[in-house]
Amino acid sequence: MSQDTKKFKRYTVTSALPYANGPLHIGHIAGAYLPADTYVRFLRLKGEDVLYVGGSDEYGAAILLRAKKEGIQPQEIIDKYHNINKKTFEEFGISFDMYHRTSEPIHAETAQGFFTKLHEKGEFEVIESEQYFDEEHQQFLADRYIIGECPKCGYSEAYGDQCERCGSSLSPRELIKPKSTLSGGTPILRKTKHWYLGLDKYTDWLKKWIVEDKKGSWKPTVYGQCKSWIDQGLQPRAMTRDLAWGIPVPLEDAENKVLYVWLDAPIGYISSTKAWAEKQNIDWRPYWQSEDTKLVHFIGKDNIVFHCIIFPIILKAHGDYILPDNVPANEFLNLEGNKLSTSRNWAVWLHEFLEEMPDKKDVLRYVLTSIAPENKDSEFTWKDFQARNNNELVADLGNFVNRTLILTKKYYQCEIPARNELSEYDSEVLEELQTYPEKIGSLIEEYRFKEAQFELMNIARLGNKYLAETEPWKKSKTDPERVKTVMNIVLQITANLQILMKPFLPETAEKLSKMLGKSGAWEEAGTSDILTAGHQIEKPSLLFQKIEDKEIEQQIEKLNSSKKQKEAEVQAEKKAEKSDKEAIEFEDFTKLDIRIATILEAEKVPKTSKLLKLKLDTGSEIRTVVSGIAKFYKPNEIIGKQVTLLVNLKPRKIKGIESQGMILMAENEDGKLAFVSPDKTITNGGGVR
Ligand code: MF3
Ligand code: ZN
Repeated sequence: MSQDTKKFKRYTVTSALPYANGPLHIGHIAGAYLPADTYVRFLRLKGEDVLYVGGSDEYGAAILLRAKKEGIQPQEIIDKYHNINKKTFEEFGISFDMYHRTSEPIHAETAQGFFTKLHEKGEFEVIESEQYFDEEHQQFLADRYIIGECPKCGYSEAYGDQCERCGSSLSPRELIKPKSTLSGGTPILRKTKHWYLGLDKYTDWLKKWIVEDKKGSWKPTVYGQCKSWIDQGLQPRAMTRDLAWGIPVPLEDAENKVLYVWLDAPIGYISSTKAWAEKQNIDWRPYWQSEDTKLVHFIGKDNIVFHCIIFPIILKAHGDYILPDNVPANEFLNLEGNKLSTSRNWAVWLHEFLEEMPDKKDVLRYVLTSIAPENKDSEFTWKDFQARNNNELVADLGNFVNRTLILTKKYYQCEIPARNELSEYDSEVLEELQTYPEKIGSLIEEYRFKEAQFELMNIARLGNKYLAETEPWKKSKTDPERVKTVMNIVLQITANLQILMKPFLPETAEKLSKMLGKSGAWEEAGTSDILTAGHQIEKPSLLFQKIEDKEIEQQIEKLNSSKKQKEAEVQAEKKAEKSDKEAIEFEDFTKLDIRIATILEAEKVPKTSKLLKLKLDTGSEIRTVVSGIAKFYKPNEIIGKQVTLLVNLKPRKIKGIESQGMILMAENEDGKLAFVSPDKTITNGGGVR
């Protein structure tokens, strides 16, 4: 049971602002959006004053890096993905009151206002330190621009801020063999100054505010992470960056510096609120500055430290703001046995799902809530998606509603029958029905959406059991009065389902409300007089359709083939990088004297596995050449073969033999070598141009 002694007047609910550098996948939805949407739909249903804000996170190195990779301006990237993601959220039914962008002027103003206020309060310490600098590009490297070996797990492509293999959070100086992702070269250390927020000064305050006060009310996973951060000792953290993409630091001696993206992004919730309030022509302040407002941040676990420690310190340091009441962060969702990964294209993309299965939005909502990674990582599989649809939505919920409505049509031409006297069993069932709104409501308020949805389904299970035991279809002729009572009861159960499913299955609730000719209010939930006798309902249609094996197999195949395609692209890219040599002048090429020669003799070089010693006829002389081809050719098969020879390479001694030239070889992907031979016989000594 929720033990909130405090009564809140209004709610400000946020979902992490996704970076506008890529589309959304089911992992994002399961983490920060679906639970928040379920929560706010529930609160609205209860008539609470609730504001749900979000938007695109459009600054920071991640965006700039993506733009550089694609060779376009960052503005193009953020415009593209802001629009795609905004539309995807709308279509999927994530019901933001405002979906804003951090590139809007009102956001820059708000974020700079925070910085200035903190500066004036003396919260920053300016520290000069050495940071990695790319000499070729003449710029300091943001953490994300540096890759190197992870000191914890040895992964060779860890980022300067985090290793994506082992999840450790890192700082660039910890990386072994750091490399600039811009030039590929080794960065040098150079002095620069930054404005540091003394997180350490807030340790005692955090010990009270989180470690003491949030014990029991915050999820164990969230609480545990916070506690371990605090126990390890907090360090001052730079709130400015040397980067060409961000909000300018509003100080005169901070030229070319921008606000740290993790300073500006959460403030985005506030600017989003301002933009919303301006549209409504109301005051934004109560939503952020009034103690009777409950502030809740929905995020994924990789954002915990920013929302539970750094942002609260910023809010606290500012002084005018309330703090989050809760941060119900989710763990991660995996997909078909692997981590979701944008770079490996291992994902179910939401915009594609909406295109391919437009009538299955609620099914996806249902499944993602059923497997929500609330307390530990969980896994999405297409087989499970199909099974939950067919065995739960179709067989339990859809079947109950459909049987009820079909019988109502058959017996009463869609008119709600009146109840007669109740049997003991009827009363029990109606009593049980009464308990659900409170059960479901308090689970939602405790952010236990998975269990809350399970209770919703229990109502359908209760209905199915009641139908199976009362068997109205057997008594419609013999005991019509009894059947009226039974049918009235299953209709009231259906009407309860319609109300209580709204936070979880909004589209289905809408569909059902059309069929019932009634959309119940929250206050009516639990009661058994939502549909009055004599009320006329519409002809029923199915709420859910069975999903066939074929559809699921297609999705699995798509997943595998898009991953393969991505792998091929990455391979091709790597190869292209390798072969992209500098352009040369024709004169450079003419310095090479390449001729056709015929192999006269071949033998293995003793005590080596790779080398053959060859004698070649170059037309004017016999040359000895040592070549690393023993793995690919046996000496006796190549006698008489014509090959290309670089004849003016300075002679070198290899294993004591003077090698007078180099045979040109073509190399396969897998490292196999083959001669480059003329396809018609050429006189020995013929030049290659
Ligand atoms: N863009 C961040 C991410 O995807 C989340 C930012 S949440 C905010 O990890 F609070 F900072 F906005
Ligand atoms: Zn690692």
